[in-house]
Amino acid sequence: MVVPAHGTSNAALPLVSIANFEARAPDLFDRLRRDTSLAVAGAGPATRFVLDYHAARLCLVDREAPRTRPFHVDLDRRADVGGPDLLRRAIGRGARRVIDATAGFGTDAVHLARRGLDVLAIERCEAIAALLADGLSRMADVSVRRRIELVCADATNLLGSRDADVAYLDPMYDSPQRLKSKPRRAMVLARELAGEDADAADLLALARQRYRRVVVKRADKSPPLAGDVHHAHRGRTVRYDVYIDRGGIPA
Ligand SMILES: C[S@@+](CC[C@H](N)C(=O)[O-])C[C@H]1O[C@@H](n2cnc3c(N)ncnc32)[C@H](O)[C@@H]1O
Repeated sequence: MVVPAHGTSNAALPLVSIANFEARAPDLFDRLRRDTSLAVAGAGPATRFVLDYHAARLCLVDREAPRTRPFHVDLDRRADVGGPDLLRRAIGRGARRVIDATAGFGTDAVHLARRGLDVLAIERCEAIAALLADGLSRMADVSVRRRIELVCADATNLLGSRDADVAYLDPMYDSPQRLKSKPRRAMVLARELAGEDADAADLLALARQRYRRVVVKRADKSPPLAGDVHHAHRGRTVRYDVYIDRGGIPA
């Protein structure tokens, strides 16, 4: 089974193949196939990445880096970042339901779920969604896991179909600071798998039409995705831009 990369100019080319996936995790496979546009492009080509099981975890094997350990998503071990909880503040104290429209490997979704929010996590890259689904399925803290619903889809097809107090966007962006502030390997792999999120401004525009409050994570020195930021929460390396609209009109 072969999954093409998303968001890249060579999106038609297979990047990831899946070994033992259907047999070892039929539920996960069925769910992804049912809920997503999982692209199956035939079997057998020599792809750079392979999704495979190691020690009962779904892993991403990089065949160009044979000495590195297979990558898996571990959501239990992630320590909370110290300092003020800027993401929680940006989401807003009254919020209960959040749509994380760019879920990636789920750090932010889990962070919010740990703070009691119900999170709809949307990830369009099938390989990333599969790794995240597997990480969620292994989470020890079941109460946190139950607060997160993962859907593998392009968020532009789902925004507006679900109620939420806030939509949260963390699109891929270039930043030397960001490389320091996140686990480098997860970042690099996410970028390899998903490519650049060149359509991020369109996603923001759509989110703003559908939800009153939209939060966008940016590198501290990056320009905002749209000019009319209502207010921002600034950290040392990242910034959370908050957009507040009333019926599509900036507040
Ligand atoms: C920087 S990562 C997000 C990291 C995430 N906040 C975390 O805590 O791990 C950006 C992710 O958003 C996904 N993405 C970008 N645009 C999307 C869209 N329109 N719909 C769904 N996923 C999207 C990309 O595939 C990529 O995995």
